[in-house]
Amino acid sequence: MEMLVVNNLYKSFGGVKAVSDINMSINQGEIVGIIGPNGAGKTTFFNLLTGIYSPSSGDIVYKLNQEVSSKRFKPFKMTRYGVARTFQNIRLFKEMSVLENVLIGYHNNFRNGVLSSLLRLPVFSKAEKKAYEEVMELLEVFNLVDKKDVLAKNLPYGEQRKVEIARALASKPKVLLLDEPAAGMNPNETKELTNLINWIRDEFDLTIILIEHDMSLVMDICKTIFVFDYGTLLSSGSPEEIQKDPRVIKAYLGGN
Ligand SMILES: Nc1ncnc2c1ncn2[C@@H]1O[C@H](COP(=O)(O)OP(=O)(O)OP(=O)(O)O)[C@@H](O)[C@H]1O
Ligand SMILES: [Mg+2]
Repeated sequence: MEMLVVNNLYKSFGGVKAVSDINMSINQGEIVGIIGPNGAGKTTFFNLLTGIYSPSSGDIVYKLNQEVSSKRFKPFKMTRYGVARTFQNIRLFKEMSVLENVLIGYHNNFRNGVLSSLLRLPVFSKAEKKAYEEVMELLEVFNLVDKKDVLAKNLPYGEQRKVEIARALASKPKVLLLDEPAAGMNPNETKELTNLINWIRDEFDLTIILIEHDMSLVMDICKTIFVFDYGTLLSSGSPEEIQKDPRVIKAYLGGN
């Protein structure tokens, strides 16, 4: 079943075509990778998928409970539609604790002020208690329970990335977009993250699109890989197909 369809998508900045004639279709439950050299348009593509930029032309359609087209995207609406993301440059509230950061993700999914009251009142209401319990469960998944009161700015880089993913998950998305989730992680953390991404896809019934330079992670977990180059889609296919594609080898893998 299709979850996301992209048609003839373009985005220009002045003379620069950052995204140029991208077409793709992604099925529900897939883990999809986007790779490509620096400046290839990968993050711009995510910014289009999350309403931060509007397309210069073309469109994007999510097939969630209802179909949502890019004409209706607004960054603040995306979590409510069921689309959550992390950022290439981590965007946590650095002066807030791990717990508070993830609660904000939870809160994004709800209209009432669960968060503000939770942070102030000594006595939890039923809704507040539920928010706290669900967020603590997420922290457990990410092995962050011991760090729940640590300020985000005091965490090592790899753990900040995990908090960001936990925060995205707390909004209960259907589609999760990860922009370089393994950046700054050591090989052990990357391996752990690889397992975690597989696990959360199954556990939360997600469609996951990830941008990543770490080829071991991409080749390990992505069913389909899209290769961007100069804003265009250079190639797409299974990890095996991508690794054999001469265009990809020439443009990106730098092989001979
Ligand atoms: N807001 C903007 N204004 C002008 N140019 C932009 C803007 N955002 C991106 N670009 C340009 O679009 C191109 C694609 O950038 P983008 O950040 O999408 O690449 P990327 O594939 O994510 O690269 P990296 O691997 O380094 O993160 C680059 O040439 C970049 O300079
Ligand atoms: Mg980028």
